[in-house]
Amino acid sequence: MENNVRPADMRRINTAELAEAFIAEQVEKVRAQVGEKKVLLALSGGVDSSVVAALLIKAIGKQLVCVHVNHGLMRKGESEQVIEVFRNQLDANLIYVDATDRFLDLLAGVEEPERKRKIIGGEFIKVFDEEAGKLEGITFLAQGTIYPDILESDGVKAHHNVGGLPEDMQFELVEPVKLLFKDEVRVVGKALGLPVSMVERQPFPGPGLGVRCLGAITRDRLAALRESDAILREEFAKAGLADKVWQFFTVVPDFRSTGVRDGRRAFDWPVIIRAVNTVDAMTATVPQLPWAVLETVTSRVLAEVPGVCRVLYDLTPKPIGTIEWE
Ligand code: XMP
Repeated sequence: MENNVRPADMRRINTAELAEAFIAEQVEKVRAQVGEKKVLLALSGGVDSSVVAALLIKAIGKQLVCVHVNHGLMRKGESEQVIEVFRNQLDANLIYVDATDRFLDLLAGVEEPERKRKIIGGEFIKVFDEEAGKLEGITFLAQGTIYPDILESDGVKAHHNVGGLPEDMQFELVEPVKLLFKDEVRVVGKALGLPVSMVERQPFPGPGLGVRCLGAITRDRLAALRESDAILREEFAKAGLADKVWQFFTVVPDFRSTGVRDGRRAFDWPVIIRAVNTVDAMTATVPQLPWAVLETVTSRVLAEVPGVCRVLYDLTPKPIGTIEWE
């Protein structure tokens, strides 16, 4: 597939001007490809699908139908941000599906990490397929494929991502950022006016919080995970660490430990802080976080998150520990 090869003389898109030129060129290309027809896009709220959505809205407006599936494993405020940015600000044609109960019911009692991933990925495809089946006159499927996807996996977007879509869907693909590297996609996203918090988002696994709520997912631990993760992100942002640490999040294991709360013994969950720096996610180091930040996160988590009585900082580099706990 020669049009899947980045031309040797293609300039790196690293300025607003180059991004504007790229956008103008792609808008024309997409219009020529799509004509009056409709395009479907699974919009996760991740950098790639968000940038593709914004680009296509510019090119074809309401001919783009975005489907955002909330699998109940999103971080705090993420689905709300997708709705706010795309439906309210960009006036997109956005179908929002809250499939939380479907996913959590299927995952109930499932402990094994790869089975959890399979269930989440499989159900995502089912929900998306169902929504696509309700729509009429869709000819094209847009995807946030980027150049590393092509280099690493024969052009299949997100091989181990929940974003993978049914292979038997009979659509022609629209992939406007498929020759771009991640940093270029971010520059294009900014030029399209997407919020920095969306465009500069740290990597977030397709199965979302599902692989950070260890073992069999329960709603109480998932809530503790979401709240503690939000606190961590808030404190990292306040301390100016958000763009200095590559990936950071919390993990809630499926064992409890003893604590004392209001003069009584408590038997509650620990929260583990994971923060890593890496270039390619193959190896990773653990940053020496400022003690004050760790203390603030700890005291806020203990005060604000029900069911948690202990906070730990994971010092394990990769190898031997992977970045995620599952
Ligand atoms: P590990 O845990 O393997 O993670 O050191 C390396 C990077 O990959 C991300 N990751 C995933 N991303 N689906 C994804 O889309 C997954 O199932 C998955 N598992 C890990 C992880 O967040 C880290 O950035």
